[in-house]
Amino acid sequence: MKKILVTGGAGYIGSHTCKVLHENGYLPVVYDNLVYGHEWAVKWGPFEHGDTNDRQRLDEVIQKHKPSAVMHFAAYAYVGESVENPGKYYQNNVSGTVTLLEAMRDNGIGKFVFSSTCATYGEPQTIPISESHPQLPINPYGASKLMIERILQDFDVAHQLRSISLRYFNAAGADPDAEIGEDHHPETHLIPLVLDVAAGTREHITVYGDDYDTPDGTCVRDYIHVTDLASAHLLALNALEEGAMTTAYNLGNGKGFSVKEVINVAQSIAGHDISVEIGPRRAGDPPSLVGNAELIQNELDWSPGFTSLNSILKTAWAWQKRQKKVSQFSSECKAVSGKNDQKK
Ligand SMILES: NC(=O)c1ccc[n+]([C@@H]2O[C@H](COP(=O)([O-])OP(=O)(O)OC[C@H]3O[C@@H](n4cnc5c(N)ncnc54)[C@H](O)[C@@H]3O)[C@@H](O)[C@H]2O)c1
Repeated sequence: MKKILVTGGAGYIGSHTCKVLHENGYLPVVYDNLVYGHEWAVKWGPFEHGDTNDRQRLDEVIQKHKPSAVMHFAAYAYVGESVENPGKYYQNNVSGTVTLLEAMRDNGIGKFVFSSTCATYGEPQTIPISESHPQLPINPYGASKLMIERILQDFDVAHQLRSISLRYFNAAGADPDAEIGEDHHPETHLIPLVLDVAAGTREHITVYGDDYDTPDGTCVRDYIHVTDLASAHLLALNALEEGAMTTAYNLGNGKGFSVKEVINVAQSIAGHDISVEIGPRRAGDPPSLVGNAELIQNELDWSPGFTSLNSILKTAWAWQKRQKKVSQFSSECKAVSGKNDQKK
């Protein structure tokens, strides 16, 4: 079984990709410092605790498992925090990646799939956004990812390290079997926040601006199902195995959905109303962000399986319900063991 080193594999998108890798005959070796990830999400291969900035630990893990390729999800991804503390983002995302790439070079691994982002484009000049759109990021998070794309080109020229950068739009949904799903702390993504309101664990959802120049006045985004992202990673890996050159692809649904549409679909799935508050616009939020993913469709024969908002939200809701049961159960257990502790 070919081993793939998956940095950040205990996180949201990384863990879903591990499942798809395993289903396709690979053994994912997760390398994660658990700053945001969860050990319970590592189900399809060994777990190695470690940081991408720790060169010694990287060498140890690579020499132990001898992976044939690396998929690199590990990063910080909170846009607002990156504006307030850019050093943290350049240190973790850029320096961590350089350390990882040097460890790969020195250990003879030449294939790399990288989690890039639509945030490398900045303010959209045309919609839908294709790969040839200018990359002018407007925050340090996006800039850190763009720097890595540039570094990857340089590592290709100097060391023949071939890479595919996948520029995701908004990842959403959960494993259709509800074995894993999105569990960010803090959570900033719209769909899990709306579903928290639907589940009664959050009071209301704030809509940041309803006076944009969009069909219903709220922001439009491109939601791409996490399992569709995972299958694109597999195709990118296969392409590199077949000798593909370094390149980058957008990964989006090609369709935009507004904040109001997300709320309406969540209401119909949950079967009741969701409390909504209209807040002011947020700085740096473009009215519409929709990707054109035709290049990866044409070149790697990728296509999204979850194209409707309903199908994406249904998987997220199933996971949310399951998770709530689990956390309810674990808090009941804690309450029982807490009582026992008190008796002692
Ligand atoms: N979620 C999205 O919508 C989205 C969109 C575009 C791009 N991305 C990118 O996709 C990747 C995965 O995103 P996600 O939503 O799964 O995030 P996540 O936070 O759930 O996963 C990231 C994982 O990386 C780990 N990690 C962070 N820094 C590390 C380090 N230095 N060493 C080892 N492990 C480290 C975290 O513990 C976490 O498990 C990120 O690179 C992110 O920038 C995400």
